[in-house]
Amino acid sequence: MDSLSVVILAAGKGKRMYSALPKVLHPIGGQPMLARVITTARQLHAAKIVVVYGHGGEAVRETIQEQDIEWALQAEQLGTGHALKMALPHLPKVGRTLVLYGDVPLTTIATLQQLLDAAEGGMSLLTDVLADASGYGRIVRDAAGQIIAIVEDKDCSAEQKALREINTGMLVLPNARLEGWLNALQNSNAQGEYYLTDVIALAVSDGVAVPGVTVAASWEAAGVNNKLQLAELERQLQLNQARALLGAGVTLADPARIDIRGELTHGQDVAIDVGCIFEGQVMLGDGVKVGAYCVLKNVKVAAGTQIAPYSHLEDAIVGEACRIGPYARLRPGARLAAHVHIGNFVEIKKSSIGEGSKVNHLTYIGDAEVGRKVNVGAGSVTCNYDGVNKFKTVIRDNVFVGSGTLMVAPVTLEQGATIGAGTVLTKTAPAEQLTIGRAKQLVVSGWQRPQKLK
Ligand code: UD1
Ligand code: CA
Repeated sequence: MDSLSVVILAAGKGKRMYSALPKVLHPIGGQPMLARVITTARQLHAAKIVVVYGHGGEAVRETIQEQDIEWALQAEQLGTGHALKMALPHLPKVGRTLVLYGDVPLTTIATLQQLLDAAEGGMSLLTDVLADASGYGRIVRDAAGQIIAIVEDKDCSAEQKALREINTGMLVLPNARLEGWLNALQNSNAQGEYYLTDVIALAVSDGVAVPGVTVAASWEAAGVNNKLQLAELERQLQLNQARALLGAGVTLADPARIDIRGELTHGQDVAIDVGCIFEGQVMLGDGVKVGAYCVLKNVKVAAGTQIAPYSHLEDAIVGEACRIGPYARLRPGARLAAHVHIGNFVEIKKSSIGEGSKVNHLTYIGDAEVGRKVNVGAGSVTCNYDGVNKFKTVIRDNVFVGSGTLMVAPVTLEQGATIGAGTVLTKTAPAEQLTIGRAKQLVVSGWQRPQKLK
């Protein structure tokens, strides 16, 4: 088969987003809309991908750094036909071109493959049938049911307004004819624009048939012009992803209350409660349970681990059969071995915690190396930062850290050491000994409580 080029029209300003961010850079599922469309083009094995960007669209070029993209500037928005013309110098003279929109992010590969398969004669058009077609270009068919033209909403006669089959904007074109057709476009219409849609009538008069393919679901062709449409498509994408997870055996308390802004991979018997957000690359092993309202970003969680509600994990690795939370925070560089317990209001940063160790309550562990079977009592803190530099705390196997211990780094707690509660540890705690640094308890006899002043 001849080679496929994809042109993505993305020069629109997106005024109705009321945002400094160009419209096609607004994220859906954590990824700019345009990046999603580019991924789609790649999955279709396009030999060439050209993005038509607009005036002030430098931010778009800077954000989308992919090497395999060619950029065509459309300095003035003179219509979709004019936009495609700006891409012409990038396109080979043979093969076919598929036109996509940068603000239509959820079109499926299956549908686009169908569209390409239908373009045997070089051309095909993706349509939809809507209850309310207002605003869209209408598909005009002849008595035999063949597509003969598209009429834009603003140019429709009263009779044409009643047509419910609409142009999604996505179509396949034969490159050999493209230059001639695009040069023949006129802007004598209601909007004074060069309409790409006018190539349909040109093709038909040249004897090129335009078979139509209808989208499986309207969201596949839905575009984003404002924040409401962005939010609606976000929900649709999330629902699609939730359904895929359910289909693959993941238990979701509610498929309408999960957000995946990246990729979630999983083993068997994974269960996720409501309100969880997964960002970047998240891997959940067999039997992992994630409680309500957890946020996991770039984390790997091994089999059998349970994460209780309201926990926040980022750039962390969690071993097998751990118990995390509720209200736990694993910050970047937290590495937990198997059977570790991290409890409520505990923060772990850039630290490894050995097998079977427990840090259960109100504690900060940063820049530390914690051995196996260590118990860190409530309210203990590694004082890792002097305001300028960071220092390491080493806690070896079987250490018991009493509650309220301040470990002033750099400091080492040798194997089996016990630290008395309330200790401010500034020097090595020797192995198997009790180390305690605590002001002596004093009892003042005859003490009277203060009286209320008159
Ligand atoms: C277009 C179609 C219409 C179709 C509708 C589907 C034309 C003339 N009309 O209408 O039949 O039903 O899409 O949503 O094609 N763009 C540029 N440069 C321009 C103009 C547009 O790059 O000069 C890009 C926009 O960024 C957008 C896409 O083309 O991604 C469509 O533009 P838009 O103005 O939304 O098209 P409509 O007028 O809604
Ligand atoms: Ca327009």
